[in-house]
Amino acid sequence: MRRRSMGELVVVAGATGYVGRHVVAELDARGFSVRALVRSRERAEKQGAFGAPALAGHVTDWRVVDFTKPQTIVDVCEGADRVVSALGVTRQKASPWNIDFLGNLAVLADAERHSLASFAYVNVLHSDAGTSLTMRSKFAFSQALSRSRVVPQIVNPSGYFSDVTDFLCMAQRGVGFTLGDGSAKVNPIHGADLASFIVDRVAGPAGTWDVGGPDTFTYRELEELAFRVAGRKPHLLKLGESVGHGIEWLADRGSPRLGNLTRFFLESLALDAVGAPTGDHHLEPYLRSVA
Ligand SMILES: NC(=O)c1ccc[n+]([C@@H]2O[C@H](COP(=O)([O-])OP(=O)(O)OC[C@H]3O[C@@H](n4cnc5c(N)ncnc54)[C@H](OP(=O)(O)O)[C@@H]3O)[C@@H](O)[C@H]2O)c1
Repeated sequence: MRRRSMGELVVVAGATGYVGRHVVAELDARGFSVRALVRSRERAEKQGAFGAPALAGHVTDWRVVDFTKPQTIVDVCEGADRVVSALGVTRQKASPWNIDFLGNLAVLADAERHSLASFAYVNVLHSDAGTSLTMRSKFAFSQALSRSRVVPQIVNPSGYFSDVTDFLCMAQRGVGFTLGDGSAKVNPIHGADLASFIVDRVAGPAGTWDVGGPDTFTYRELEELAFRVAGRKPHLLKLGESVGHGIEWLADRGSPRLGNLTRFFLESLALDAVGAPTGDHHLEPYLRSVA
């Protein structure tokens, strides 16, 4: 029989990221023990980007791993009860296929070998729809996980507060743009609210959840908010679909990484990404706090 959730040991992959750090802090606050898989313990112990917490004092067991070297993943799940993975390439220089898909797959294989109870994965809304390598890699892993012997828990977030800061940075420089009329909708979520949503479910049954923050915006409204917070008059370029394709074409010729990031970003702007409204952090005060 499994131990009760209180005091269980949870392996966290992607523990040094925006979401991962909030997950570690939340697990610790709720009485779980945490084994953090990191590239650098020294960096992990300091505060993360976008106000994400320092991990010093929240982690029971540190493992330094290289997700591109499967031999460093062997036995990371030994003696543990569950996995939460927020591992994925965002701003890092690596192929999403190697990290989002193969890296997570190596952790899953180890979780299966050590008979862990569950694996919660931070995926993305509409991973089945995008053509970017990021979306394809995340979709491939979510498919592998859903056929696992370990209880699969797949969380599909909309966008993060951390990413909206990119709109703010552009607005501070006086530029912004929408794809078409910017009418696609998104409800970005704060990392702490997403972590709370995940930890609420971590000891529960299998499931798939679409989740977002409490406020829904069109991308046009997000841009207008960014300009308001930046204290500048909105100056928005309206990009047509063909301009979007042209930018993707050019980015593909720059480098595979640039092509992927551009495609991921532009495709996201064209689709509604609204998950079940969750949490009590609101975007405007967050943006004002980082402006
Ligand atoms: N951004 C969004 O709006 C959004 C929306 C939905 C879903 N998501 C997904 O949610 C997940 C978490 O996002 P996030 O914003 O928390 O990402 P993040 O801050 O970049 O964190 C990603 C984590 O993965 C690790 N990682 C990335 N590349 C790596 C590599 N080459 N080798 C080893 N470790 C690597 C990072 O380690 P280091 O700290 O050492 O780099 C970090 O721990 C991602 O998979 C992302 O795709 C994002």
